[in-house]
Amino acid sequence: MAADNTMEISSILQGGYQHPLSRSWQARRHLTKSMLMYPIFITDDPDASVDIPSLPGQSRWGVNRLDEFLGPLVKKGLTSVILFGVPLNCVKDERGTPADDPTGPVILAVRKLRALFPELYIACDVCLCEYTSHGHCGLFAADADTPGTLDQGPSAARIAEVALAYARAGAHCVAPSDMMDGRIRAIKRAFIDAGFANRCTLMSYAAKFASALYGPFRDAAGSAPAFGNRKCYQLPPQAKGLARRAIQRDVAEGADIIMVKPALPYLDVIQDAAQLAPDHPLACYQVSGEYAMVVAGARAGVYDLRVMAFETVESMVRAGCTLILTYFTPQFLDWLSE
Ligand code: PBG
Ligand code: ZN
Repeated sequence: MAADNTMEISSILQGGYQHPLSRSWQARRHLTKSMLMYPIFITDDPDASVDIPSLPGQSRWGVNRLDEFLGPLVKKGLTSVILFGVPLNCVKDERGTPADDPTGPVILAVRKLRALFPELYIACDVCLCEYTSHGHCGLFAADADTPGTLDQGPSAARIAEVALAYARAGAHCVAPSDMMDGRIRAIKRAFIDAGFANRCTLMSYAAKFASALYGPFRDAAGSAPAFGNRKCYQLPPQAKGLARRAIQRDVAEGADIIMVKPALPYLDVIQDAAQLAPDHPLACYQVSGEYAMVVAGARAGVYDLRVMAFETVESMVRAGCTLILTYFTPQFLDWLSE
């Protein structure tokens, strides 16, 4: 069809993206390998390599298998991981004692990874839900009569204790995912007192929502609450204002990196965070359910896996993220090499 000669000059856009190269220039920032952080599950059977059915392609690993698991990925350009402990043989209690057991899987894995891969950046998720008998992310008061009401002060103090243990073990970064009020300040204080404030990065899961998308993770980590839910500490999905307040609070309390989680249904919050914390790195977590959803859709023939994986992650970059936690990291390392 012929061009419409009466069209306004300002109506013509296609001249700017007619070539693959000029299309790539349309991005404000490009996805690179160093923007990807790979979440990995470490279990206490040192020789384990067990598939996680709800997270296709992901496994729980024992410390003795980390070389064979991560060695090839480091060669392809993996720059950072975040560790989640999956204790299967420990005794869980009210205060999550196994969380900072020096012989527990996370601390052993940090030491091992530091030795195996000196260039790899190692973050540790910090939470109690994998280690408490009740499966909640904080501690209950001894006289608690309202199930679901956690004891703020002691919970933040315990989280800080665990964070410090991971920092002492050699973690480059600790990332509290519990959502207790005041835990960023408590960790920063504990780090300052112990001389770790300038040796370990504090990444806050600042805007973490009570989402339906954590199912596969809870399955993988054995961290589902034994009763109730997490709605009294994770944010309500409608809560744009609370998310903004949580981001500002955690910046004020000393967070070095701000995170939004989940990612795809909360792109507006990512954009808010980019504006509220413009001088901080901004992370988002493409969580287990988001990953499983993208994989399931591809398997159902809805779209091509690779095209969709890029589309989701590039939406996060576009919204303002500089760091993305994603289970697609191994695949992106291949795709970004082509
Ligand atoms: C634990 C924690 C969870 C995730 C990260 N840390 C689960 C939860 O809050 O119940 C979810 C990660 C994912 O779904 O991939 N506090
Ligand atoms: Zn938790």
